[in-house]
Amino acid sequence: MSNIGTIFNVSVFGESHGPAIGAVINGVPQGIKLNMEDIKKEMVRRAPSGGEWSTKRKETDAFEIISGVLDETTTGAPLTMIIRNTDARSKDYENLRVRPRPGHADYTAYVKYQDEHDIRGGGHFSARLTAPIVFAGAVAKQVLAKEKIDIVAHIAAIKECEDTRLNEFALPLLSIKEKLFPVIDDTVGEKMREIIDQARREKDSVGGVIECGIFGLKPGIGGPLFDGLEGALAKGVYGIPAVKGISFGAGFDYTNMFGSEANDAYMIEDAQVRTKTNHCGGILGGISNGMPLIFRIAFKPTPSIGKPQQTVDIDKNEETIIEIKGRHDPCVLPRAVPVVEAVSAIIILDEILKTRKEI
Ligand SMILES: Cc1cc2nc3c(=O)[nH]c(=O)nc-3n(C[C@H](O)[C@H](O)[C@H](O)COP(=O)(O)O)c2cc1C
Repeated sequence: MSNIGTIFNVSVFGESHGPAIGAVINGVPQGIKLNMEDIKKEMVRRAPSGGEWSTKRKETDAFEIISGVLDETTTGAPLTMIIRNTDARSKDYENLRVRPRPGHADYTAYVKYQDEHDIRGGGHFSARLTAPIVFAGAVAKQVLAKEKIDIVAHIAAIKECEDTRLNEFALPLLSIKEKLFPVIDDTVGEKMREIIDQARREKDSVGGVIECGIFGLKPGIGGPLFDGLEGALAKGVYGIPAVKGISFGAGFDYTNMFGSEANDAYMIEDAQVRTKTNHCGGILGGISNGMPLIFRIAFKPTPSIGKPQQTVDIDKNEETIIEIKGRHDPCVLPRAVPVVEAVSAIIILDEILKTRKEI
């Protein structure tokens, strides 16, 4: 299924080279005055930027709202938006139906859907479908802004090159959003860009880590066991193409700590219960504790690379070599940052509505 959320529910539709892609959002609170310029800015952050780390495909992502908004204000009815596809070069994909790209969804889509799968541009598996997700996230962010909740993500690592961590970084975090290459430390960002550019020149690709922080979330959101915030966020985040891991707070680093180091000691700050450290990443027992909710996401290298790779010819039942043509991102992370923020906004808004029934 291509939808997520219980109350704030986002359903994504379309194929990369079909007439249009889009989203239907149910459960949008009524009476929210939408700032269309801010939504457009979010779409631009995800669209190909022209930077050396980005595909040369031209995706303007101009959207049209066809229901649920009147005079830029939400009506409470399903909000439907579409983006018409304009820059499709379907011939780049003709061979992939029987010669699947290693690392992409071509083979599994073939097994599941056989000849009915729309292979052009990756069809419904294309990362182009993240554009309507960013739109829905931008709407969710504007609802969350009423609660003074901010969501910020950055590129935390490209291969071995690491940015400053969010927990250590003082506000204002929102300035990261203005950056074409979203990192906290621009010197590290330069090195990351060199790593990506070198991979691109060698017809290769690289992956890395995106870290996301949700600031201003009150304690008490979420639930125990299978209703936990970690599970809800993980489900959303795994819907983003190329995601292969997620960890909350200290994550796997917990395995090297003693309990005395791992536990976050409580304190009173401004008459509020806070913790001195935030190893748990703002979640205990699946429920927010009022500290920043921090998590890290592992992205694999872009599957479509120009280097010759071994694949199979399904029709002939024999091994063969594939050299992928077409315009691909040598690293998906710079464009995935707003997608991570968007999915987080959708999930957190839904969790707040599930817990409190209103916002
Ligand atoms: C923002 C973004 C851009 C992407 N761009 C490309 C691309 O240009 N070429 C490509 O092969 N994969 C790209 N991907 C990744 C594929 O869509 C993804 O690896 C594929 O659908 C298989 O899904 P999986 O990696 O989650 O198993 C991109 C992913 C994201 C999030």
